[in-house]
Amino acid sequence: MHLEEGLMADYVIIGSGVAGLYTAICLAKHGRVAVLSKQDLTSGNTWFAQGGIAAAFSEEDSPALHFEDTWKAGGCFGWRSAIQVMVEEAPARIQDLLRMGVKFDCRNGRIDLGQEGAHSRKRILHIGGDATGKELLGALLHRAREAGVIFVENAFAERLLLVEDRCRGVVFVKDGRGYCAYARAVILATGGCGQIFKCTTNAPAATGDGLAMAFQAGAVLRDLEFFQFHPTVFFPPQGKPFLISEAVRGEGARLVNRHGEYFMEQIHPRAELGPRDIVARAILAEQQKTGGPVYLDMRHLGSAYARERFPTIYNRCLEWGIDISRDLIPVSPAAHYLIGGVQVDLDGRTAVENLFAVGEVASTGVHGANRLASNSLLEGLVFGHRVARAAAAIPPQKGGKPDILQVKASGKEEAACRAAAEPLQQLMWQHVGLIRRDAGLSQARRQLKQWWPLTGYNYAEAALNETRNMLIVAAMMVEAAAARRESRGCHYRHEYPDQDPGWAMKHIRFQKSSPLPARPESMDYPEPHFCSGTQHIMMGGEFHDSSADD
Ligand code: FAD
Ligand code: SIN
Repeated sequence: MHLEEGLMADYVIIGSGVAGLYTAICLAKHGRVAVLSKQDLTSGNTWFAQGGIAAAFSEEDSPALHFEDTWKAGGCFGWRSAIQVMVEEAPARIQDLLRMGVKFDCRNGRIDLGQEGAHSRKRILHIGGDATGKELLGALLHRAREAGVIFVENAFAERLLLVEDRCRGVVFVKDGRGYCAYARAVILATGGCGQIFKCTTNAPAATGDGLAMAFQAGAVLRDLEFFQFHPTVFFPPQGKPFLISEAVRGEGARLVNRHGEYFMEQIHPRAELGPRDIVARAILAEQQKTGGPVYLDMRHLGSAYARERFPTIYNRCLEWGIDISRDLIPVSPAAHYLIGGVQVDLDGRTAVENLFAVGEVASTGVHGANRLASNSLLEGLVFGHRVARAAAAIPPQKGGKPDILQVKASGKEEAACRAAAEPLQQLMWQHVGLIRRDAGLSQARRQLKQWWPLTGYNYAEAALNETRNMLIVAAMMVEAAAARRESRGCHYRHEYPDQDPGWAMKHIRFQKSSPLPARPESMDYPEPHFCSGTQHIMMGGEFHDSSADD
């Protein structure tokens, strides 16, 4: 493909979710900011967020309590410095949103704080009842436009441009033509990878592109074995699964089995509001035990309150003939959130100079081995602000032609890649889902090794490049899941059901030995690396042992 000189900016941000937009707004005063989105501007997971944004915002709450809940929910595996930053800077970021005109729901003249699982206080700010993501995104888009941010929609970022190991830009494809965008800093805000699983709450755009691009460019990926499954998802007879927010359980909704019996109290002291992985596995076990569905019972809310507090859920269920104020909702777990990602420091720097990552694509360390509900939108805001500050300090970059190697797929590889998409989702759901078994992981690994040669090519169709990216991410996830022989947070191994203290501080990382350009034959199957005892972070591209920080 002939590449055109497409775009010159100071900062290129890939992704228009909460993380990308908030970073863009913060950067706009420092230079020309361009935001690329592979579909329309609302295509990411942010649009679908329901429950809200967590922040210590009441007199009964404090950043210290928010810290404790985040740390415990994460299986005491998170990076304490990053959690500290997030909970302490949360109220300031909420104030920013209020100044931008975001209208959080209020009750009796005060912000109405919701309750969600594993939070010891009510601290979830929500908008439009359960339409937090849609309303937040609308407000951020409005502000970003006012600030002069340039948007390029339907622009599929394919690979990062490196000059002497520094990130200088990105190659993107729009309307079948390839372009180079150059900038002094590139910010990956491409979201997660839920689409690697057959059953997911995630937007179709969540195909792990940013993770694959970062890996190809030499960044470090970490903690990919930790993928969170949401317990309560409604699977309509046709179409996409639909999340039933945890906030519903926060309002007192109960889980019942096919016989109308409650079962969560026997499983966790906080019953329905226990950690997500425990609730999700309990639902699976109950389905298996009774041979029937598990339901959410929220009939106690009454019609008027249900409609006012959860209008999106109310209307979506009604489309399928379920009136949530009168009927039970059948629910089952689905893939929801990538906890690991591109390893970053406290300012979102990756191991590649001038490349940043923020939002779900990044691994800041705040979520540990399991994410506390509603901490993800918050993470995008807090670290978006920090990334902008760090990126603004990068001086303009001069000269240097990137080495662009495109290895075009032949018709044979295209056909093989197309054929791999659905079986990959099935394979990951069956063997790398909520419960991971030795035999299943081995089978997944064998299959992914067979598919691996397909990851070395550039495909003419965006959908095939997405499949390639999903294969890259899936291979690393399987390797990490197989390597971690213990259960911790949302990573559950059937044969190793307990936490192993020997793994308490061990992180599994992946980094390609030679960054771009890559030929198919030089794309080695990813090997996990283990780092013990510390959370290595990057400082200006150098690894720095941060154990002293914690
Ligand atoms: P996203 O919002 O996913 O945006 C990614 C962007 O990157 C999109 O614009 C996409 O088009 C773009 N992109 C991706 N690849 C490319 C490419 N190759 N080229 C160009 N552009 C690309 N979290 C909470 O804290 N509270 C909640 O209430 C909550 N509810 C949720 C409900 C649902 C149904 C889901 C799925 C998630 C929920 N989460 C919630 C999680 C949270 O919404 C996400 O983690 C968060 O919104 C991710 O934001 P992001 O900006 O990192 O990515
Ligand atoms: C939900 O509303 O249940 C989702 C919240 C989250 O994933 O943080």
